[in-house]
Amino acid sequence: MEEGSESIVNDRGLVLVTGASGYLGSWLVKRLLERGYRVRGTVRDLENPAKTAHLLRLSGARERLQLVLAELLDERSIDAAVDGCKGVFHTASPVFFEADDPQAQIIEPAVTGTLNVLKACANHPTVKRVIMTSSAGTVMFPEPELSNQVLDESNWSSIELSTQNKQWYVLSKTLAEQEALKFSEDKQYVFTSICPSVILGPILSSDIVTSAKNMLVIFKGDALVARMFCHVGYVHIDDVASAHILAYEKQEANGRYICSAIDLSYHELEEFLQHRYPNYKVPISIPKDIKPSYSALSSIKIQQLGLQFKGLEEMFDDLVRSFTEMGSL
Ligand SMILES: NC(=O)c1ccc[n+]([C@@H]2O[C@H](COP(=O)([O-])OP(=O)(O)OC[C@H]3O[C@@H](n4cnc5c(N)ncnc54)[C@H](OP(=O)(O)O)[C@@H]3O)[C@@H](O)[C@H]2O)c1
Repeated sequence: MEEGSESIVNDRGLVLVTGASGYLGSWLVKRLLERGYRVRGTVRDLENPAKTAHLLRLSGARERLQLVLAELLDERSIDAAVDGCKGVFHTASPVFFEADDPQAQIIEPAVTGTLNVLKACANHPTVKRVIMTSSAGTVMFPEPELSNQVLDESNWSSIELSTQNKQWYVLSKTLAEQEALKFSEDKQYVFTSICPSVILGPILSSDIVTSAKNMLVIFKGDALVARMFCHVGYVHIDDVASAHILAYEKQEANGRYICSAIDLSYHELEEFLQHRYPNYKVPISIPKDIKPSYSALSSIKIQQLGLQFKGLEEMFDDLVRSFTEMGSL
C-alpha cells in the first residue's frame, strides 16, 4: 500500500480491532500500530499469554495498544470496547467448519455478534468507519448456473445451498455480512466489508490458529477433505490487512470488497506445492463428485482502491517459515 495515502484520519486516532489475538486480528493490530494508530484490541482471555504475548511485544504496543475483554454475545462488553473509538475493525468470528450445535457455536456468534458490534457503533457517534472482515465464502458458492462465471461483489453464496450442504461457516459469514449491510444503511458511520479468500502468510501467535491448521494438514500429508479446497482463492495476510486499512483510510471506500490474489484448483495447488516444497507429500483428497462452484473471483474493486497483491510463493514461503519456526513441520 502506498505510504501517505489520502487519509480521513488526521491524528490517526483510536481504533478498535475485535478478535485481536486471532491470525488476521493480530496482523492487523501490528500494521495499525506501525501506521501510528492507537489501537484497542478485544480478547476473550486477558490472562492467557498465548492470546496476548504476541500482541504485547509488537512495536508500539507499550505506548499505543490497549487490550480489553469482550465477548461478541455480551452486548455490554462490546459497547464498552467501542466507546471512544473513531474506527472499528470487526474481525472476530468463529472460524471452524463443524460443530455439535452449528447454530449456537458458529451462526449465532457470527450474526448476532456482528449486529452487537454495529449497534454499539451506532450508539457511539465518534465512530466514523466500520470495516468488517467477511469472507470470499460469501461469494463463491452461488447458484449452480454461475459455476463457470467470474464472480464479483454483486454475487452472493446461496443461503439455501449452504444450508443444504451444511456449510455452516459459509452460511454464518453470508448471513452476518448481509445483516451488517442492511443494518448499516442509515447509520452515521461508513460501512465496508472485506471478503478475503484463504489467508496465508506469517503467524504471529504461538498457537497454530484455526484457519492455518487446514494448510498444516496438507503439508503433513493427511487428506484434506474440504469442499472449498476443490477450487478456491488465496491471499497473503499482509494484503488482507492492507485492504482493511485502505478501506478505512480512503474516503471513497464503500460497500463490499473481494480480496483474493489467485484462484487454484486443488490439482494446481498440489502441483505448485510439490514443485516448491519437494520434501512434503501433498495428497489428492478432494472427492471426485465435488465440482468447482465458480470460475474466478474478481478483486478489481480493491485493486482500484490501491491494493497490489503479493504472489503465491510469498504466501506459502511465509506460512511454511512460521510452521517451521514453531516446530510444527
Ligand atoms: N483465515 C482465513 O483464511 C480467512 C479467510 C476469510 C475470512 N476470514 C475471516 O477473518 C476473520 C479472522 O479469522 P482468522 O483466520 O484470524 O481466525 P482466528 O485466528 O480463529 O481468529 C478469530 C478471532 O475471533 C475471536 N472470536 C471468535 N468467537 C468470538 C466470540 N464469540 N467473542 C469474541 N471473540 C471471538 C477469537 O477469539 P479467541 O482467540 O479467544 O478464540 C479470535 O481472536 C474472521 O472473521 C474470518 O471469518 C478468515
